[in-house]
Amino acid sequence: MATSRQKPARYTITAALPYTNGPIHIGHLAGVYVPADIYSRYLKGIGADALFICGSDEHGVAISMKAKKEGITPQEVIDKYHHIIQKSFADFGIEFDHYGRTSSPTHHQTASDFFKKLYDDNAFVEETSDQLYDSEAQQFLADRYVTGTCPKCGHTEAYGDQCESCGTSLNATELINPKSTISGTTPTLKQTKHWYLPLDRYTEFLQQWILEGHKNDWKPNVYGQCKSWIDDGLKPRAVTRDLDWGIPVPVEGGAGKVLYVWFDAPIGYISATKEWAEAHQKDWNPYWKDQDTQLVHFIGKDNIVFHCIIFPSMLQAHGDFILPENVPANEFLNLEGQKLSTSKNWAVWLHEYLIDFPDQQDVLRYTLTANAPEAKDNDFTWKDFQARNNNELLAIYGNFINRVAVLTQKYYEGIVPTPGTFSEVDLEVLAEMRTYPQMIGASIERYKFKAASQELMQLARLGNKYLADEEPWKSIKTDPERTKTVLFVALQIAAALQVVSAPILPHTAQKLKTILKTPSWGWNDITDQPLLAPGHQLGEPVLLFRKIEDEEIQAQIDRLNNTKKDNLSETKKPVMPQKPACNFDTFSAIDLRVGTIIAAEKMPKADKLLVLQVQTGLDTRTIVSGIAAHFTPESLIGKRVTVLLNLEPRPLRGVVSEGMLLLTQDEQGQLVFVNPDQPGVADGAVIS
Ligand code: 2FM
Ligand code: ZN
Repeated sequence: MATSRQKPARYTITAALPYTNGPIHIGHLAGVYVPADIYSRYLKGIGADALFICGSDEHGVAISMKAKKEGITPQEVIDKYHHIIQKSFADFGIEFDHYGRTSSPTHHQTASDFFKKLYDDNAFVEETSDQLYDSEAQQFLADRYVTGTCPKCGHTEAYGDQCESCGTSLNATELINPKSTISGTTPTLKQTKHWYLPLDRYTEFLQQWILEGHKNDWKPNVYGQCKSWIDDGLKPRAVTRDLDWGIPVPVEGGAGKVLYVWFDAPIGYISATKEWAEAHQKDWNPYWKDQDTQLVHFIGKDNIVFHCIIFPSMLQAHGDFILPENVPANEFLNLEGQKLSTSKNWAVWLHEYLIDFPDQQDVLRYTLTANAPEAKDNDFTWKDFQARNNNELLAIYGNFINRVAVLTQKYYEGIVPTPGTFSEVDLEVLAEMRTYPQMIGASIERYKFKAASQELMQLARLGNKYLADEEPWKSIKTDPERTKTVLFVALQIAAALQVVSAPILPHTAQKLKTILKTPSWGWNDITDQPLLAPGHQLGEPVLLFRKIEDEEIQAQIDRLNNTKKDNLSETKKPVMPQKPACNFDTFSAIDLRVGTIIAAEKMPKADKLLVLQVQTGLDTRTIVSGIAAHFTPESLIGKRVTVLLNLEPRPLRGVVSEGMLLLTQDEQGQLVFVNPDQPGVADGAVIS
């Protein structure tokens, strides 16, 4: 249903191109593909010209690393996972208009041409500088080939191009304590030439376009991240790499170098549009060039910088293309309280889900939507999944449809009855029903998919309550004319449900279409006139949902518990033996307090030391701590810490330290502040 604001002529909807280095899991589905698919299906349902584009991201270090690990070539890796991923999408009803590949000739050509145009227009800065180099592997270290501590948030496993914890985009040389992921060694520096996109030149454009232009319509999490990067000052970003897997740099001096994967990947949206157009004898240009096209990028929060800062700057530099109208990025989905992790197998893989729950794709789509990480990270639990199915889809939606279909079959051989006079309740229910398409549509248009799923269930609730109140199974004995009217009204609700369910529950809507034997209605078909006319012959009733039993859920929880045990035994390191016993008096002599770090700076000429000002409740005191390799001063401001207050003051490099902060180490040997719930801190970790 249309909302009042003016509609664009067409929509180009993109969903982040997944790396083809592994199958996909519920986190991908919840964060990107289900919301994007709902949006696309809805727009098509209201008759809009909407193009839904995705494809495989097949370059970059992620692929090379996987190939090395599996002992196969990058080409074999991408061929394998491209098909697995594409099948998962199809199985879950993620209905792209085109699913491309960045290894395709069209994409190579499009990305090369894009680079050449920027090169010819002098949009790049060419620079020879020291870059991280692994002398053992004889390779420059970029992106996922190097990890280290994020200079912004202190996350200890930031990559050479990005910290996935705080989203900051980085240059590899900014990492604190860098380590090669190829050999584990500390990199050296070696000179090399690269082309840089001078993002600093786009500051004013980004300020105007995002900070002024999209303050009110972009999600606060997306807007906030953009604002913080722009306010912090943008720096030039290298868009080429010394790697052998990728699109060759197509200009003089580019031999042996490839385009940075994040330069070529978003251009993949354009290449995929070209491929779609060619296959359907259409013109791709309006979808990327016309100002009345609305471009929307669906992504996860770790991709915000690339879609809101870097790609738009590239598009702006190029000059031919439109900019995204919105980038409704989601936060992350956790699984049973822990971060989803491919390497730790802490995930629900889509292909595995379908083995245990065949034909129940919509249960997962619904659960992930009802619990979507729209405004904050959210948790998927198997118990919630079971409850969403048993208490909502089955007990409300399925129950309503089943009762209407079975009763119509039983009383009227499946023929829609002719209603008698409508009561006030009937008219109210019909009027309320007609408000839902508008309401659900408005939620979807505002990217509020979670709300849309609840409104959808509310419509089913309306039908259920109506039947429970009007009890047609009783009136059939006392007032058969009334039964006809009640079932006629209930059937209209069932028909409306079929239409508005299609974006969120496409498989269910399809089954409902068979039960009601209806044509392919769009949202605009819901008017004041009944959708199902008297005399229409319904199809056979079938059950839409089945009960999910406790044992099935327990089996999933047991599997995860086993994964947890396997992970623990794999990572277990020798634990330090217990120290000699100390008496209570000795322990109570120690004065431990909670404090807050209010200032932090590097100790001059000391690599390891930070000078901190800590508010202890009693006073603000100076504490010198040997943590400079693990935390940047900025990341510590405001941090709450445990302080050993009465440690004898001692001078360190001329500064008197009046206490000590309590820290421990995580499984990677990185120092972390004491918080036993922090992921990666094992039982037995020593606090010192
Ligand atoms: O984070 C990822 O999985 C990337 N492969 C997303 C790329 S989105 C686009 F720009 F191609
Ligand atoms: Zn960070």
